[in-house]
Amino acid sequence: MTHGLFISFEGIDGAGKSTHIQALAEAFTRAGRQIVCTREPGGTPLAEKLRAMALNDPMDSLTEALLMFAARRDHLQQVIEPALGRGDVVLCDRFTDATFAYQGGGRGFDWQVLGQLERMVQGRADPSSPLRQPDLTVLFELDPAIAAQRLAGARVPDKFESQPQAFFEQVHAGYQRRVLENPNRFARIDAAQTRDTVWTAVREAVAGRGWL
Ligand code: TYD
Repeated sequence: MTHGLFISFEGIDGAGKSTHIQALAEAFTRAGRQIVCTREPGGTPLAEKLRAMALNDPMDSLTEALLMFAARRDHLQQVIEPALGRGDVVLCDRFTDATFAYQGGGRGFDWQVLGQLERMVQGRADPSSPLRQPDLTVLFELDPAIAAQRLAGARVPDKFESQPQAFFEQVHAGYQRRVLENPNRFARIDAAQTRDTVWTAVREAVAGRGWL
């Protein structure tokens, strides 16, 4: 049986993940794989309710982090683990790195506590198995000043999108810290390039691992 594959997509708001997630979904489908396209926070009815609260209601950073991980727990149990068990390809728009980047980097919330929550939520039924993590995380890297220009006027911003540029500098730093802690899991993509060049880099990151 084919092994499941778990790929997450990360970057600051405005870095332009969406079109490439869609293109990758089509490429996997053409290659004959079953795909599950999903997102965080969200991906289940309960997690989508938690998303609406986390993205719109004011709250302290611990509450925000707990909601992100509560949504993730439900998503893992209801959607991600069953899909990986079937051998599907799971393409997830954001996962735990976003919590470290946004709540840890952006909000300044305690990195160690996030690590504890990560271990609780992503621990496996068999405690000797490693934590559930993406097989690959595609990180779209973009100067926060350029991202802000791209976002301006694009749509009504949510709680995070309306943050000042300094917040996104910290989110960016949070992502860099995660890359340093997990160097083999990340494919870093320069998202300032043309859309076609970015797509080629995304495709090669996946194909280069023998998955397409
Ligand atoms: P995003 O993925 O950009 O979706 P859309 O393109 O529909 O706006 O929005 C999710 C927002 O939630 C984004 O600003 C990052 C934030 N977020 C966190 O702060 N922590 C998390 O753990 C996750 C998954 C997302």
